[in-house]
Amino acid sequence: MTEGHERPRFLDLEALERRARDALDPMAWAYFSGGAERERLLAENVAAWERFTLSPRVLVDVSAVSTSTTLLGAPVASPIVVGPTALHKLAHPEGEVATARGAAAAGAAFVLSSLATCDLEEVAAAAGPSVLHMQVYVLKDRGRTAEMVQRAAAAGYRALVFTVDVPVSGLRTREVEHGVRLPDHLALPNVADPDSARHGWGFVEHVVREFDPALTLDDIAWLGGLTGLPVVVKGLSRADDALRCADAGAAAVVVSNHGGRQLDDAPPSAEVLRKVADAVGDAMEVYVDGGIRRAADVLKALALGAHAVLLGRPVLWALATGGAEGVRELLDTFGGELERVMALCGATEIGAIDGSMAGRLGVHPGERP
Ligand code: LAC
Repeated sequence: MTEGHERPRFLDLEALERRARDALDPMAWAYFSGGAERERLLAENVAAWERFTLSPRVLVDVSAVSTSTTLLGAPVASPIVVGPTALHKLAHPEGEVATARGAAAAGAAFVLSSLATCDLEEVAAAAGPSVLHMQVYVLKDRGRTAEMVQRAAAAGYRALVFTVDVPVSGLRTREVEHGVRLPDHLALPNVADPDSARHGWGFVEHVVREFDPALTLDDIAWLGGLTGLPVVVKGLSRADDALRCADAGAAAVVVSNHGGRQLDDAPPSAEVLRKVADAVGDAMEVYVDGGIRRAADVLKALALGAHAVLLGRPVLWALATGGAEGVRELLDTFGGELERVMALCGATEIGAIDGSMAGRLGVHPGERP
């Protein structure tokens, strides 16, 4: 090693995933890694980003590159957001409090799952001034949902992320095979009645029975009216749905298929992102999740029209193997590699990334497909 210079850490999410699998008990691993049915979409989410190439601009002064941007007007260090995954105490004893500390240390926004294993107020205290959003499943018992979002607003959460692709549970084969359930020593202090989560044979299958399957566009205004917080609608893949959400008052949408955990025959996010972003235009921000594993995937997502990307499983792998520091290191390394890819593409700031910088394999990336 060169004297005095620490060897740079490169993102190697395949190695991180292997370490997390070795560190976690089989039930936790089945829950975090599983998808729906054949798990076709689970793999396709990752593979689909490889079907896009980048089209770098040259002869641009990239001596100074910044990944900083804003999320609904709030400044963040990069467009890489920690997405709302559940049950973090299955990965690390400090749970979502550790995730929040790591995200805050990296200047990243964190979307807390309503199926978190830590109190939302505890997480807010750990996050300090960094950007927090509260993910929401609307329950059949609307009063419990209202109470949770009012707690979140009081605790300083800046937006509600309304998940709309879980009207019923996807067919979670691995969860059933491994008898995934909420362990007796854990609770879901923000929303669900823990008893519903303690049955064996499928955590989500049981918890989702408390979710309201009768959701409509009106629920965007209902949620927004409870606290005045902006509502982000998460879990769509159609341009017409995105436009309907914009008309109904959504502040942003997340192009997402729930990490391949709901409808196994839905399209991978990378394939539908540009269509949704082109339809929405400047009407609202568009975020994307699903299969983001490299800095180049982040730049492709932004070139295809996303304002930000949400990371799911990689954050769980970092949490399981390194706690808060592991999450910080993942996000800082991701941000450093995004800086590198931006420089190689001639983009000095996030706003300089445009649609000509990504295209499908075989189609000249400079042309719109
Ligand atoms: C999941 C739900 C609970 O585990 O978000 O996919």
